[in-house]
Amino acid sequence: MDVIDLRSDTVTRPSPEMREVMARAEVGDDLMGEDPSVHALEEAAAARIGKEAALFVPSGTMANFVALLTHCGRGDEAVAGSESHILNHEGMGASVLGSIPVRAARNDDRGRMDPAEVRGLLRESWPRTAVVCLENTHNRCGGAALTASEMRAVADVAHERGVKVHVDGARIFNAAAALETEASALVAEADTVSFCFSKGLGAPVGSVITGPREFIERARQNRRLLGGSMRQSGIVASAALYALEHNVDRLVEDHANARRLGAAIAEMPHVRMDPAGVDTNIVFFTLEGVDGAEFRRRLAEEGVLCTGTSTQRVRMVCHVDVTAAQIEAAIPRIRAVLESLPAAS
Ligand SMILES: Cc1ncc(COP(=O)(O)O)c(C=O)c1O
Repeated sequence: MDVIDLRSDTVTRPSPEMREVMARAEVGDDLMGEDPSVHALEEAAAARIGKEAALFVPSGTMANFVALLTHCGRGDEAVAGSESHILNHEGMGASVLGSIPVRAARNDDRGRMDPAEVRGLLRESWPRTAVVCLENTHNRCGGAALTASEMRAVADVAHERGVKVHVDGARIFNAAAALETEASALVAEADTVSFCFSKGLGAPVGSVITGPREFIERARQNRRLLGGSMRQSGIVASAALYALEHNVDRLVEDHANARRLGAAIAEMPHVRMDPAGVDTNIVFFTLEGVDGAEFRRRLAEEGVLCTGTSTQRVRMVCHVDVTAAQIEAAIPRIRAVLESLPAAS
């Protein structure tokens, strides 16, 4: 049976062309600053996002952690969205290991924060708020794309108080594609931005932190502190560069697949969802009257894999390794499982 893996856009495998580029990559010891493929990636990533410099790191989690460590001195705190990846899915590393308290500003169902609430959270001394973190697209809030003006409204409030702005842009190119704009325009007001190559862009490993050169040099020391300095990392950096050059424009295909999937699922029994809420490549829906764990188990038996943020809230993600034909094949399997499930007691 053709297994259709909609658990995440992180499950992709490098394409033959990407593997070819990796096999041919020129490499050196990056900790000694000698890996030409890492240099090429960092330059391209910084240019693409409109910042001065970039630092290649192993993961999005480390990118956010290094960014917060670099923004915050001892006794400083950060503000992040209540539904953010930083607060919910990164082990609270900034607080647990970095001694950085992270306070929550409420995210609405589209991942937005209320600028007035953010203003009220900022503290000028002891503890001093050093950075406000935004997330775009917003993972837990349905993959919603925040507009440039929504981002700017929060950034302005932070900057008025001399507080920096970091964007967790793990999927910033999905946001830009959905809004038909450039990623650099979306993050123009941000001081630092991280983004991932190993999600929608289809590379096996890696993220970058981008920002002012002086910040990136300090971030480089913090990456070393965390054991994130790599040696011949050009092997994976070359895949990331290939992803940046070849897999950004095609993100619209994932979005079209997600819209098609969302529209079909919204019509199915036991489903509560607004198909208009599918901005990018992530489809969320809530199950009513049937058991969500049982749904996922039975669907997996039918060869369609998905996850959820709670038992009843289901998440399906479209990506480079899922074709439009596979989405068409998944739809009747999802419907059949929903129709056959017993009513939950
Ligand atoms: C919004 C967001 N930020 C950060 C991360 C962390 O990335 P990684 O899994 O590479 O650590 C993720 C992962 O899904 C994410 O969705």
